[in-house]
Amino acid sequence: MAIRNFNEDTLTAEVLHRLASTPDRRLKQVMTSMVKHLHAFVREVRPTQAEWFEGIKFLTETGHWCDDKRQEFILMSDTLGVSMLVDFLNYGKVGNATESTVLGPFFVEGAPELEHGSSIVKPGTPGEPCLVRCHVTDLAGRPIAGAIIDVWQAGGDGFYDVQKPDGTNLRARFRSAADGGFWFRCVKPDSYPVPHDGPVGKMLVATGRHPMRPGHLHFMIEAPGYEKLVTHLFVKGDKYLDSDAVFGVKRSLVVDFARNAEGIYELGYEFVLKPAGMTAAPKRRAGAARRKASAKKSSRAKRKTSRPAKRSARKK
Ligand code: BEZ
Ligand code: FE
Repeated sequence: MAIRNFNEDTLTAEVLHRLASTPDRRLKQVMTSMVKHLHAFVREVRPTQAEWFEGIKFLTETGHWCDDKRQEFILMSDTLGVSMLVDFLNYGKVGNATESTVLGPFFVEGAPELEHGSSIVKPGTPGEPCLVRCHVTDLAGRPIAGAIIDVWQAGGDGFYDVQKPDGTNLRARFRSAADGGFWFRCVKPDSYPVPHDGPVGKMLVATGRHPMRPGHLHFMIEAPGYEKLVTHLFVKGDKYLDSDAVFGVKRSLVVDFARNAEGIYELGYEFVLKPAGMTAAPKRRAGAARRKASAKKSSRAKRKTSRPAKRSARKK
């Protein structure tokens, strides 16, 4: 049997050919695209062997930094803008529904459920007191009662509870009241750095980037019949709003944390949920609709072209 001799011009096609019979259609699409882009990347960059090995070492080190408390690959996805791109393509913007943003690595399942008006802050935690009053509504502005709202934040020192040894702090779960309302006390969020003592931190330094995120509160809101909303509220005026290390800022999520009559920071916000099933971004749906329409068109065209061919065959 003749042995084929692949070269830099023919190798990609051969790799793609070997993926051609992948039984799962989606996996085939993903693998094919990944190989095409990876080969194109290598063609463009032309790494030396030493550089390629440096890349492998970086990914290996990233893996070594991952455990149940630290997920360096998510951080890499966040800091390279991939998490937000996935968010844009999947959650999309629908009418006046509240926009989503990154989940981040500090969400913890099972936070304690607290009464409205409770503080989520343990005594002695650094930070300035802040009062948060919110409502949850549907697209038409009707209150959503019984929504489950997870809230979490960093303290005034820039650390989440999971980065310290002292147990649950700065996080809680609330349930919206009959008017869709919920309220709680926290500390005014301040800017803080994403974890930058690992490979992602090295990458940020090497590329001349800072690790800072603008001050924000995290929210995850779930209610039966509605899309789960994962979002933040950002502090208006924060100096990192335009250079968030993870690209998570959306203008509609920037809120005034102003001092109230008692001198306490206070903010109000109305979270608008979209009905379940509205997750896919309009573009993706439009893309799918376009593909469906063009598939129909081409099968119609095929039928058209095949008929005259048959007729002309008959004529002969
Ligand atoms: C956060 O906001 O908690 C966060 C998000 C992405 C990466 C690191 C931290
Ligand atoms: Fe955060």
